[in-house]
Amino acid sequence: MSAKQFRNALGQFATGVTVVTAADGDTGFVGTTASSFNSVSVDPPLILWSIDKGARGRAVYEQATYFVVNVLAADQVTVSNNFARQQEDKFSTVEYDLDDHGVPVLRGCSAYFHCQTRYLYEGGDHLIIVGEVVQFDATERDGLLFHQGRYSVSDVHPVAASTQAQVGEPQEKSFAANYLHYLVGRCFHQLLGRLEHLLERQDINQDEYRVLASFSGLEDADLPTLQRYTLLDEHTLVSALHGLEKRGFIQPVAQGHRLSHAGQERLVSLMAIAKSNEADMLGAFNAEEAQQFKEMLKRAICWTA
Ligand SMILES: Cc1cc2nc3c(=O)[nH]c(=O)nc-3n(C[C@H](O)[C@H](O)[C@H](O)COP(=O)(O)O)c2cc1C
Repeated sequence: MSAKQFRNALGQFATGVTVVTAADGDTGFVGTTASSFNSVSVDPPLILWSIDKGARGRAVYEQATYFVVNVLAADQVTVSNNFARQQEDKFSTVEYDLDDHGVPVLRGCSAYFHCQTRYLYEGGDHLIIVGEVVQFDATERDGLLFHQGRYSVSDVHPVAASTQAQVGEPQEKSFAANYLHYLVGRCFHQLLGRLEHLLERQDINQDEYRVLASFSGLEDADLPTLQRYTLLDEHTLVSALHGLEKRGFIQPVAQGHRLSHAGQERLVSLMAIAKSNEADMLGAFNAEEAQQFKEMLKRAICWTA
């Protein structure tokens, strides 16, 4: 089992992000960014998290009677990064108060769980810490998420959103309803979903399609060039290249890869499908609006580059 693949698979499970803090008479405070936080029991109120046995704060957490789980808010990425870094004084750049037990409580978080350490369990290279919640506090702030190795923010699933609409919840009031990232993301997601459906019938997946489409402007292409064109990570790109090569659509050359004759034919037919799909998608606009829409997207691409 490869550790990287294992981590990638675990990354499919979206979590929140917390900073667990504790105090130690000798060394001051410790704080560790942790996504391993989870609920365990309601009665008694128990939670758990796990700490890497190699982490510098481990001994403090192991001996601490009290600790606080600070659930980070969506705008606290820098706080998360600060406490994920090994550095001398993690607390010099953040604002915090002390709770009744002298444990730091970070300001601006989305929720807090003040805990008393109850159980410690061995967990391979981690130590599992179970705490009893003695006090908690929740705010209205959205939580920061971590998914597929990246920070993320939550959004209402379209299914839940439509249910909300049915029960009369005004969707327009939601933050997402007029938020650029959401609008672009959702539009992208839906456009791609339709195309994916068409591609499936052509027995080609989206990654392979992106690679083939890149060759429309390229003769021979090496891995870095294809990565720039496709925006795929290296692993996904290599596996798409492998799939295309196996089916004879591309062939290896000294400088990387090139389209085969069969690949050129396939690309032409796929581009015809993509263009007709695009026409369908833009059908809601007149020709002038469609062009304006594309021009605005091009400008947005430039300013966000
Ligand atoms: C999003 C995220 C989640 C993390 N989750 C955990 C975790 O659950 N347990 C852990 O021991 N380390 C976790 N880490 C890594 C630690 O934050 C980091 O290794 C540690 O704080 C390094 O500093 P230290 O050795 O001074 O504690 C995570 C890091 C990030 C960015």
